[in-house]
Amino acid sequence: MIPEGIAYGGDYNPEQWPEEVWAEDVRLMREAGVNMVSVNIFAWALLEPREGEYDFTRLDKILGLLHENGIAADLATPTAAPPAWFFRKHPEALPVDKDGRRLSYGSRQTFCPSSPAYREAALRITGAVAARYADHPAVVMWHIHNEYGCHNAECHCDVSAASFRRWLRSRYGDLAALNDAWGTTFWSQWYYDWDEIIPPRATGAVPNPTHQLDWRRFCSDELLSLYKAEREVLREAAPSVPATTNFMVMYNFDALDYWRWAPELDFVSNDHYLRSTDPESEIDIALSGDIVRSLAGGPWLLMEHSTGAVNWQPVNRAKTAGELRRNALAHVARGADGIAYFQWRAAKAGAEQWHSAMLPHAGTDSQIWRDVVALGADLKALAEVRGSSSPASVAVAWDWNARWALELPSQPSESVRYLDVVRSWYEPLWRSGVAVDFVHPSADLSQYRLVLAPALYLVDDASAANLTGFAAGGGTLAVGFHSGAVDANCHIRLGGYPGAFRETLGVSTDEVFPLLPGETLSLDGGGTASLWSERVRLAGAEAVTSYGSGPLTGVPAVTRHTYGDGTAWYLATHPDPGTLAGLLDRIRTEAGVEPVRETPEGVEAVLRRGEDADYLFLINHGEGDASVQVAERATELLTARSIEGGLVTVAPGDVVVVREAR
Ligand code: GAL
Repeated sequence: MIPEGIAYGGDYNPEQWPEEVWAEDVRLMREAGVNMVSVNIFAWALLEPREGEYDFTRLDKILGLLHENGIAADLATPTAAPPAWFFRKHPEALPVDKDGRRLSYGSRQTFCPSSPAYREAALRITGAVAARYADHPAVVMWHIHNEYGCHNAECHCDVSAASFRRWLRSRYGDLAALNDAWGTTFWSQWYYDWDEIIPPRATGAVPNPTHQLDWRRFCSDELLSLYKAEREVLREAAPSVPATTNFMVMYNFDALDYWRWAPELDFVSNDHYLRSTDPESEIDIALSGDIVRSLAGGPWLLMEHSTGAVNWQPVNRAKTAGELRRNALAHVARGADGIAYFQWRAAKAGAEQWHSAMLPHAGTDSQIWRDVVALGADLKALAEVRGSSSPASVAVAWDWNARWALELPSQPSESVRYLDVVRSWYEPLWRSGVAVDFVHPSADLSQYRLVLAPALYLVDDASAANLTGFAAGGGTLAVGFHSGAVDANCHIRLGGYPGAFRETLGVSTDEVFPLLPGETLSLDGGGTASLWSERVRLAGAEAVTSYGSGPLTGVPAVTRHTYGDGTAWYLATHPDPGTLAGLLDRIRTEAGVEPVRETPEGVEAVLRRGEDADYLFLINHGEGDASVQVAERATELLTARSIEGGLVTVAPGDVVVVREAR
């Protein structure tokens, strides 16, 4: 298992450096308090110079050196970057894009996920690594592959097509069921033979939506089957070493249905990078952390983030003073029990030579290095936080199927983006310090008072019943516009929108009126709405606010309905941030949901709950000193000072972690 306390480290790629550098590496790792590094991620070509011939000399030395220095290894299977010799022998294993173009090797993760040759080669090198290092004392965890689907989430070649058909056969059993699910009477798309079915390659007009949706499901499952195959090989060789693979729960990646992946991991880990153009990336960190913790069902590991700039955005912004520390501790606040970076030493050569690292090009006489050393001390001071939980009474329904379906072409509005809508609802909760979990819509909701379904466009029948049952049983359910519109096959739920939730919400919509970019409507309680409107008719609900301008003047925009023992809200539009915050404040207050702590504006408060103490993380994103009320018997963990008078001051840009005895 990962080391005691909070794990600290990063991707370590010593193979990119002469051996003389390694001694300095481990010396500096110790200086910084690094206790675990991920190794071997991209070392396949060096490990297996020719098919079936291995050279473990380098890796033996590296693992030995780490162990001698008390640094644990998260040992990777190097299968994300097959060597050139493999592709020369198996050009058919290179992926094909939707336009029929076969890609070339010379980068990384450029292989067809369905290729039998790739699978065989990947399992062979995995088996060799497992056999050699299963009992190595440095190895505490397997890092399987790297960021599955980052560059090759889909391949449209004929081999993939055959695998897609097998997946469809097991989903539908017979063609009649598939034709029905896909609605193939439309545009003469009826299939008479399984072999007629191909991936949704580039076509002249819009492809069939269910075809596209099933394709995304298949692509996620196909990569998952590769993960599972590697995990089986490792499990057989080393049953007690836990396995992970680094997820990418961050704004721009949506290829994998991580609800299906998470149960297959012994320990969930995630990579998170900031978007240079996001003025409030602290909210993105929190959102991502809450999703990952929810996937993990508890603590997780931050496998990668950056100390400074990345190299893959149009402009790669360095972090400002204190940002490295705030970012890292914010992940811990959201449940991370380990903090790691891409990467340990900044590369001199290769495609990522302009990516920041823990040890920058400038060496140790640098701000980043000083920050990295200081963070090591902070994480050491937080050792007892490890394993603590994160109580929440609000859940946000989150589903990759809904995300995929909502963003298919030919929607009422292509401006409606799943993550944007979710984040717009999440933001006010974040600002008020309300703790939030994310749940699959079919999850047990009994621990929550309030469930939000901001963008649940697609919902299957069982999940819909789960959510409406939650309201009927006394919970508060708030549903966002265009939710519940289609079923699991992406078929419209007839009889009025929002299909699955109509009765629970006590409304019925006969027509939707999406708004043009920049267009706004006034709301009669104050504020404006953008993006979306609907002609909502009340069918039991009361109108909370209605449109004050435009073609729907007087029509309800937000409604509230008493349903069974609970309450169901419908936000049939996208209110401006202030109005949305006011509404969500009212909704959660009525539901009896309190923030973890009242804090001045700009101060993020997050709670982790240990066995005999609470850990209150206070992060000041604002520009002035902030005072926060804490428990009588409290200590400041990072400085080990006890807090007098139940009041703690957080300087601008600073992080304070308060241990409150219970
Ligand atoms: C991740 C990847 C790392 C490195 C990093 C750069 O996507 O796993 O290997 O490329 O991005 O930001």
